[in-house]
Amino acid sequence: MFFKETGSVNFKNLITGKILWDDGLNLISGPNGSGKTNLIETLNILSGWGPFKQAGKIDLINWSSNESRGFLQAQVSGEEEVLIQSSVTSRCFMKCDGKRSNCSSIRVKVPTLSFLPGDLALLEGSPSVRRRFIDVLCAIIYPLYALRLTEYRRAISHKKALLESGRVTEIADKAIAPIASWIWGCRERAVKAIGMGLEASLSLPPGPMSFSMERGGGGLLEDGEEDYRLSVERHARRERGSRRPLVGPHRDEFRITSNGIAASSAFSRGQRRRASLSLVIAAGWAVQTKLRRKPILLLDEVASELDREGRRITVDTLSSLGWQVIAATAEEDMDWPGTLWIAGDGTFKRKD
Ligand SMILES: Nc1ncnc2c1ncn2[C@@H]1O[C@H](COP(=O)(O)OP(=O)(O)OP(=O)(O)O)[C@@H](O)[C@H]1O
Ligand SMILES: [Mg+2]
Repeated sequence: MFFKETGSVNFKNLITGKILWDDGLNLISGPNGSGKTNLIETLNILSGWGPFKQAGKIDLINWSSNESRGFLQAQVSGEEEVLIQSSVTSRCFMKCDGKRSNCSSIRVKVPTLSFLPGDLALLEGSPSVRRRFIDVLCAIIYPLYALRLTEYRRAISHKKALLESGRVTEIADKAIAPIASWIWGCRERAVKAIGMGLEASLSLPPGPMSFSMERGGGGLLEDGEEDYRLSVERHARRERGSRRPLVGPHRDEFRITSNGIAASSAFSRGQRRRASLSLVIAAGWAVQTKLRRKPILLLDEVASELDREGRRITVDTLSSLGWQVIAATAEEDMDWPGTLWIAGDGTFKRKD
């Protein structure tokens, strides 16, 4: 899929107007504060992922506007033609082809993966960052995933409340086991697909990379439900002692290594950027294989911390994908084989 035309009204510092995107490589270049990230954020919202940060209306609507809402629209093309609209207040209300729609169905129709400066945390941050990365991919490739994950989180907080008040958790665990097993299954398949994707973008990672998953508190048995049940039995005393649920997908860990060494130690900072971007691209391959739709990549600050060689390899890799890429940079002299957009105070002009 690709964004063909997008527009915004009253959104942050963006001047009302439309952009006709290239279906291949797009680079938005401009000084700090010109609105590059804001523009990429509108695309993130229009693909069902919401604003970049938890934001109130005051943060999203143009400060000098008297209107109480903003409005975003995208004509998306490719494997299907889709019109996405979003009315932005303190929340984003979505419409797809004129009908009220939920974010999860839009994420499947317009599969979009973003790579933001903070995504370096994929390698060096806490396990929750990697769980979120897998959850984003699973939410795109398995339509029920977001719903079941919410169910699971509710069930686990209920179990936590039981443990905190010193009550038994048997019935709660019976209800959790099938959901935990289903989520484990989805995540394990997604990890495998990412592994295959990593092989497809061999030149981008600064060295060999492997990506694996360990089930939280479990993993000794293939049958997920049985594994959950026996692992809970095994950890029962510790769970009662710590008053926290210690088994289940909320404790999963994902290991990213290079030649057996944690990628966070094996690679330098610039190299870690390339490594994290290759994981995002590998997730894109997984999306393409499962959904038979080309994903869209949103890459903010695409050049930062990369040396000349790193930039060249990144740009070559992005060109070889055949996907729409919408990237932003504050660098002025970046070699870019696709369409260049010059940003200035909320406006974007195509450079011919
Ligand atoms: N609600 C709002 N109304 C008007 N302007 C806003 C609003 N929210 C943020 N801005 C302004 O948008 C400007 C552009 O922000 P943005 O993060 O998009 O810049 P950028 O081009 O990505 O810069 P950088 O290169 O530093 O990343 C900021 O200077 C900020 O003051
Ligand atoms: Mg920015």
